[in-house]
Amino acid sequence: MTDTDEGQLGGRTIARVVFDAETIQRRVRQLGAEISEAYTIDDRLLVVGLLKGAFMFTADLVRHVNAPLHVDFMVAASYGDSMETSGRVDVLYDPPIDVGGRAVLLVEDIVDTGTTLAGLVPRLRGKGAKQVDVCALLHKRRPTAAIEPRWVGFDAPNSFLVGYGLDHAEDFRHLNYIASL
Ligand code: IMP
Ligand code: MG
Repeated sequence: MTDTDEGQLGGRTIARVVFDAETIQRRVRQLGAEISEAYTIDDRLLVVGLLKGAFMFTADLVRHVNAPLHVDFMVAASYGDSMETSGRVDVLYDPPIDVGGRAVLLVEDIVDTGTTLAGLVPRLRGKGAKQVDVCALLHKRRPTAAIEPRWVGFDAPNSFLVGYGLDHAEDFRHLNYIASL
């Protein structure tokens, strides 16, 4: 199947492919290699993917991490707007795991206002994680985003992106590439 296969889009249209499947996979492999170097067995690494947007990225990323780890997921909803640095973040699912003394790697699909990370990173630190790092596939580089991820896949254009986990009204998540609408 090629990128922008008509059948997958089911009559909906995208404006352009921003990151094709091969470019994404190459970058995910690099990130996995860097993450592999960054932790030791004593860190008891816990990778936490943020659903739903980071489901595909998390699944691909951990395959390239050559270190022992556990994987879990979290569901959060943010209600920030671009003018605020501390919008509200509701956690809808929190893994029932003791993160005390462990290194947590939070995996995010895209950093936009930064509200989600501003809510979740302090929360995980508050639960006793010894270290909380963020790996974001995409970053819009907006000035409100205060928490700097340790790893970023790509700087994103300031347009609405879909595919590879990202949705518009739940459409497009299954695409293996990232497109703008
Ligand atoms: P933040 O809390 O404003 O940084 O927003 C992060 C969340 O908003 C991401 O995890 C996405 O779910 C969503 N989001 C932000 N920009 C986009 C986009 O361009 N496409 C799809 N979802 C987006
Ligand atoms: Mg998200």
